[in-house]
Amino acid sequence: SGDAAPAQDLAGRRVVVSAGGTREPLDPVRFLGNRSSGLQGWALARAAVARGASVTLVAANATLPDPAGARVVRVETTAQLREAVLAAAEGADALVMAAAPADFRPTEVSTAKIKKADDGAAPPIALVQNPDILREVAARPVGPTRPGVVVGFAAETGDAHAGVLDLARAKLTRKGCDLLVVNDVSGGAVFGSPDNDAVVLAADGAAVEVGHGSKAHLAHAVWDQVALRLGPVPP
Ligand code: CTP
Ligand code: CA
Repeated sequence: SGDAAPAQDLAGRRVVVSAGGTREPLDPVRFLGNRSSGLQGWALARAAVARGASVTLVAANATLPDPAGARVVRVETTAQLREAVLAAAEGADALVMAAAPADFRPTEVSTAKIKKADDGAAPPIALVQNPDILREVAARPVGPTRPGVVVGFAAETGDAHAGVLDLARAKLTRKGCDLLVVNDVSGGAVFGSPDNDAVVLAADGAAVEVGHGSKAHLAHAVWDQVALRLGPVPP
């Protein structure tokens, strides 16, 4: 990173980045969502463009302008994110899932606005689990529909039973991805903040500490790890 032009080590590569947080409609005016800003995904897309990649950014509800040089696909829900990511991942060399997909969606979407009842009763909201996009892509055999390097992101806090890195190792295995970028959010918020502390865990057992820095710094550290694991550029 820094001010010098970065090496074009992603030239000839097609990469897909997902960013932002999905929203699941409840009725025409309401949704379930999360606070993901999209900033990390944007930083990843910009860094990949700077390193020469052909970049598709699948963006969920972020209010950021299209990054120069990237193809941008805007989506709202996890189902739409899944469709767009699966389409863009066809023939891609790498997929980086920086998006925060809503894990659940309302079982039913009301076509009319949900109204208050006079007796003060509140309507229950039944939820179903959304598909896991990262796990679905990572589980495929490497080939035209499974990029050679699949990367997940995880914000973890650790609990009484397990530390952040133990939880992250288990998540990496469960997801079947090649790299997992782990943010320790025990101390406070990462969402919307300009800086990150992260570790990149690899399925081959490696762990690279990125240390404190900007989202751009983390983005370049992620692409460094991706670039190491890409096969030769096809002729
Ligand atoms: N992810 C995904 N599809 C989902 C949920 C998550 O592709 N439906 C991806 C995220 O983009 C991220 C990674 O999976 O790259 C980890 O997300 P996280 O929310 O930490 O994982 P979950 O399996 O949803 O686990 P948790 O119960 O901790 O939220
Ligand atoms: Ca989740």
